Amino acid sequence: MAEGYAKSGNQWAASYQGWRNVAAQPYVSDTHGARYVNNYANDIGADNYALFEEAGPAPVGTVLAKDSFTVTAGGRVGAGPLFLMEKMEAGFDPDTGDWRYTLIMPSGKVIGATGGKGAARVEFCAECHLGVEEYDSRFFLDEEYRAQ
Ligand code: HEC
Repeated sequence: MAEGYAKSGNQWAASYQGWRNVAAQPYVSDTHGARYVNNYANDIGADNYALFEEAGPAPVGTVLAKDSFTVTAGGRVGAGPLFLMEKMEAGFDPDTGDWRYTLIMPSGKVIGATGGKGAARVEFCAECHLGVEEYDSRFFLDEEYRAQ
């Protein structure tokens, strides 16, 4: 999975698996195509993200990565896309709360990134995530799946 994402050339796609995973186990995300997902945070962002609702605004340089996979009724596992959020400098894009959203397919194809190629194709990410502006656009994960 990580190998495919890394073909995108995106620097985080190649390294996120070494970050802290705040999910105790992969869980099904209905909002990300009903796929199983994990939630990783990089060194800059992990301590903050792990505070969940108490976190306050994310430090600039925070990167959150959610990889995904599907399991068929027959038990076959397939890779899903990689969802990335990166907290940029203030003023980067007020329409996204200064987050750069990136969507990368399992093949490594980049569907779009805020402020870059295919930006229009990731606008829907911010539209939904801004629903939790009070948590700096982070939804966190269901309490039962949070790593202790
Ligand atoms: C319809 C609403 C919705 C859309 C659209 C959506 N998300 Fe999310 N996102 C959520 C919810 C809810 C969570 C937390 C629960 C979960 O993991 O499913 C989340 C979690 C995340 C996280 C983990 C950080 C956090 O919020 O705690 C990342 C990273 C992420 N989404 C990236 C993306 C990207 C990139 C896109 C667009 C390609 C996207 N999301 C589209 C609702 C959405």
